[in-house]
Amino acid sequence: MCGIIGYIGNKEIIPVLLKGLRCLEYRGYDSTGIAIHKGENLNVVKSVGKLSNLEEVLKKEHLLNGANGKNGKNGKSGHVSCGIGHTRWATHGEPSDINAHPHFDSDEKIAVVHNGIIRNYQEVRDSLIQKGYKFATETDTEVVVQLISYNFKETNSILKSIFKSVNELEGSYALGILFKQEPDKIYAVRREAPLVIGIGSGENYLASDSATVSQFVEKIIRLEDNEIAEISKENINFYNLKGEILKKEIQTVTRSKDILDKRGFKHYLAKEINEQAEVVSNLLKDFLPSHEKPIQFNHLKLTPDFLKTIDRILILACGTAYHAGLVGKYVFENLTSIPTEVQFASEYLNSKPLLTEKSLVIGISQSGETADTLAAVKKAISKGATFVGITNKQDSALADLAKEHLLISKAGLEVSVAATKTFLAQMTVLYMLAIYIAETIDSSNPKKLSLVKQELRLIPQLIDQTLTRQEHYQKQVLQYANNPDFVFIGRGINYPIALEAALKLKELSYIHASGYASGEMKHGPIAVLDTKVPVVSIIVPGETYDRVFQNSLEAKSRQAPMIAVAVDGDKKVESIFDTILRIPPITELISPFLTVIPLQFLSYYIAEHLGRDVDQPRNLAKSVTVE
Ligand code: F6R
Repeated sequence: MCGIIGYIGNKEIIPVLLKGLRCLEYRGYDSTGIAIHKGENLNVVKSVGKLSNLEEVLKKEHLLNGANGKNGKNGKSGHVSCGIGHTRWATHGEPSDINAHPHFDSDEKIAVVHNGIIRNYQEVRDSLIQKGYKFATETDTEVVVQLISYNFKETNSILKSIFKSVNELEGSYALGILFKQEPDKIYAVRREAPLVIGIGSGENYLASDSATVSQFVEKIIRLEDNEIAEISKENINFYNLKGEILKKEIQTVTRSKDILDKRGFKHYLAKEINEQAEVVSNLLKDFLPSHEKPIQFNHLKLTPDFLKTIDRILILACGTAYHAGLVGKYVFENLTSIPTEVQFASEYLNSKPLLTEKSLVIGISQSGETADTLAAVKKAISKGATFVGITNKQDSALADLAKEHLLISKAGLEVSVAATKTFLAQMTVLYMLAIYIAETIDSSNPKKLSLVKQELRLIPQLIDQTLTRQEHYQKQVLQYANNPDFVFIGRGINYPIALEAALKLKELSYIHASGYASGEMKHGPIAVLDTKVPVVSIIVPGETYDRVFQNSLEAKSRQAPMIAVAVDGDKKVESIFDTILRIPPITELISPFLTVIPLQFLSYYIAEHLGRDVDQPRNLAKSVTVE
């Protein structure tokens, strides 16, 4: 959830660290900070809030000049520059200057940045206090740096102090470490939290994701769990926890000059919503080049024998990925007739796992780093189930767990914290997987499958048409911006869209919103309705239409302002809805690809109108690496 950057080379250090942190800010934006070697000492500068606050502090301290972003007194070219930086999502201790990383040991000889959680931090802290250590912050990270300091004094060896400390620390974490006495080295540790090294010529980088290092270099080395790297300008040594030297493979990534380009949009969110047609189209080109041929999943090593004996499918995910999973349930059951269940990964951790070797478990996570999802998937795998991973990140822990059963959702980098295009990408992959299984086990009518495939191939163009209506949606929804509560309702395959719409509105605008299966309204939630609570019905022609219409009438009779997402040409909705967000006509089974779009815009435009921080809503982070 936090972001780590590190650099060693001849470039001016602060601009490089800031550029890296800008790419990593999606991982948390409660505070930022850097540590650099300055003269004989380590210099730590940090600030609560976003990166722009840190830039202001650096300018005040004459470490950063104005517009050109060049250094003040530090990192003159020709000198080796060495530093680490951090962007934080608070877990232990409130967002504040003092709790911001990097953290020093008491002697200010070691500086540490940290992503993840130290589970035994209280125990280690108590034992260090008994040895006379004093703590200045509430963070688990300070425990790490003080422990390294203690072990350094005990062993008089930097490497030994790291090995010893890592063996004593429990949890999942990534670390970047600087030692005052070693101005030309960065040390890095990975344990179940991502860390990548970027290799340049006479310079090396460290970052929490490969997208960030791809800004600078194209050769990377991914650290694996329980590995330690000793990084200097020209050389990198890798060790396991026993201190044995490891050989690591260099990989090549596509050099990406500016991953943070907004392509003319005011917010990443708007850009990413507008990329959805392209995202779905790219996936269809790969998996479904023609509706006449079977779906191609050549790289997925699931045998037909296994697919034919699957007794149940269990989908594990969180948040928006969970909603994609709920859509997947309808599709799997409709096309394959295999009983499918979807569980919040965090809840699965407390449940009795009813899995067999014939069960297929699908874990969905755009970041591939969500701690709850990873833990739930590991639990399912330990019960003997076959696991398929769906993620947007090739270099993620979820991808590692999936091994040969990995499906990359290829949505491209999603910078905005609220998930939009990755949701459509996850749904696309789930539809493809359902069709693939249906075709392999021969469980569905081939004509029906061919029709679904034909319709899916039209989706990108229908998304495009829907996107052309965004300004109209804007005009339609702003009248509701000051309503304090919203209710979204849908049935069947659009019930998950009601949940997703409510989630999006909450996280972007901070307006309270709930999503309900429309039939449930009369069993309690209808009590909240009055003239101030708009009800948004997702009502598309198909099996659920009449019932959603009836439930909408019930809401209307409680004086709720009524908004519909409905297809062009549906005149019946005009009789009860005050506002109708129109989408192109579409079959119910694939309608979630379109029904969600006006609702993404509803949340976006209301949030923007209210002056919210659309791309980085309060209290959130893009990847949630704590359980
Ligand atoms: C909502 C959102 C979150 C994530 C959830 C799971 O817009 O972004 O609800 O969907 O935290 O994240 P991943 O997919 O990375 O596992």
